Amino acid sequence: MAERAILVLGAGGHGKAVLDLLLASGDFVVAGVVDAAPRVASVLGIAVLGDEAAAPRILAEGVGDAHPAIGANAARLSAGARLEAMGFALPALVHPSAVLGRGATLGAGAVVMARAVVGPDASIGRLALINTGAIVEHDCVVEEGAHLAPGVVLAGGVRVGARAMLGAGAVVLPAVSIGADAIIGAGAAVIADVAPGLTVTGVPARAV
Ligand SMILES: CC(C)(COP(=O)(O)OP(=O)(O)OC[C@H]1O[C@@H](n2cnc3c(N)ncnc32)[C@H](O)[C@@H]1OP(=O)(O)O)[C@@H](O)C(=O)NCCC(=O)NCCS
Repeated sequence: MAERAILVLGAGGHGKAVLDLLLASGDFVVAGVVDAAPRVASVLGIAVLGDEAAAPRILAEGVGDAHPAIGANAARLSAGARLEAMGFALPALVHPSAVLGRGATLGAGAVVMARAVVGPDASIGRLALINTGAIVEHDCVVEEGAHLAPGVVLAGGVRVGARAMLGAGAVVLPAVSIGADAIIGAGAAVIADVAPGLTVTGVPARAV
């Protein structure tokens, strides 16, 4: 793919992880970073250009792509909508060490981090985040804005609702459904459906 210029919104920890992906990918030239409240001059050697108000000028300079690199799911979705309203496109971002199965699909602004696997016919929604080393097996559906933290394993046919957050190392058994805005604790083993908005932890996972 030819290199495309991209702006990253977010200079925090998740912003750093996204920049690391972009620098590894070779598909993009990173034009810079903007942040709601800039506290550092650069991240991984990429200049912080100001706050979000600088974004339209950067778009006018010919940077057509952007990514809202914000870990909090609802904030990432709303920042993505703002960037699109300004005129930026939100490409899906895939680390070169990630594996995408045949028929896997990625929505606008979806991110697949290093060493993650997205199996055949799995579907990753808009601005969903598949973090380092997570495994999304065949036929899973991850809806918009959901976050699978590092090392999460979804067995085949799992559905993860919009904006759900699955903590590091959580495991979800085949065909289980996790509702929108649910929170799954780190290390949990989810063996049954989880209702929208519920928080569960433990092995097997129970509501807290
Ligand atoms: C489940 C979670 C969301 C709860 O956070 P919280 O609401 O701040 O809860 P607290 O830390 O106050 O803990 C509440 C209780 O749940 C227990 N608990 C918290 N997380 C737990 C977990 N992952 N597994 C088992 N028990 C857990 C605590 O020990 C505490 O128990 P107690 O009431 O008997 O003392 C959080 O602990 C968690 O696992 N987050 C995932 C973080 C993560 O992986 N982030 C990835 C970023 S990339």
